[in-house]
Amino acid sequence: MAVRRRRRRDGRHDTDAHFRLRPATAADVDALAAIERTVFSDPWPRSDFRESLASGVLVLVAEAGNEVAGYLVARSAADEGEILNLAVTPTHQRRGVGRALAERALEQLSARGAQAVYLEVRESNVAARRLYEGLGFEPVARRPNYYRHPVEAALILRAANLAGRRGA
Ligand SMILES: CC(C)(COP(=O)(O)OP(=O)(O)OC[C@H]1O[C@@H](n2cnc3c(N)ncnc32)[C@H](O)[C@@H]1OP(=O)(O)O)[C@@H](O)C(=O)NCCC(=O)NCCS
Repeated sequence: MAVRRRRRRDGRHDTDAHFRLRPATAADVDALAAIERTVFSDPWPRSDFRESLASGVLVLVAEAGNEVAGYLVARSAADEGEILNLAVTPTHQRRGVGRALAERALEQLSARGAQAVYLEVRESNVAARRLYEGLGFEPVARRPNYYRHPVEAALILRAANLAGRRGA
């Protein structure tokens, strides 16, 4: 699906961003690992992406032209889903890519039977926290000293009642 981002009057999105969402393939692993190293201080190794793809976990890619602009990794078990990873390349940030990936993941996890979706986020990660808050995620727990490089607390966020929210 092609997604067209509307122009905004505040100037933050001064060009329309065209991107499409699709399932990742093994051919994307190098690009995903490269973005991962760019945006995270404690990145997943390539093997984590390879294993995610091999194990049938949901791995979505946002593609802009021939370039991978972002990705999301999520899984579900019974009636719970979990977003494991989400990143957008710095050059494509603030253009709706992250929100589109997360919205698509919520739809797909809901379609697989998830009633609630969980994720972990660094307490200081304002960008991600705002994105998730806008999608209805709320904090349900805090884990001190959870992350390394640097050591920091994790907030556990949950979005509940997915089916109800989709119909709203
Ligand atoms: C967090 C991240 C995925 C957001 O992706 P993005 O494509 O830039 O986000 P979007 O353009 O879809 O923004 C959606 C909303 O998130 C919030 N947001 C995004 N970036 C923000 C920033 N830098 N500061 C404050 N709020 C921000 C805003 O509420 C935004 O809505 P708005 O543009 O209407 O104000 C991206 O910044 C990123 O890859 N960061 C590094 C990796 C990371 O932290 N991943 C999340 C781990 S849990």
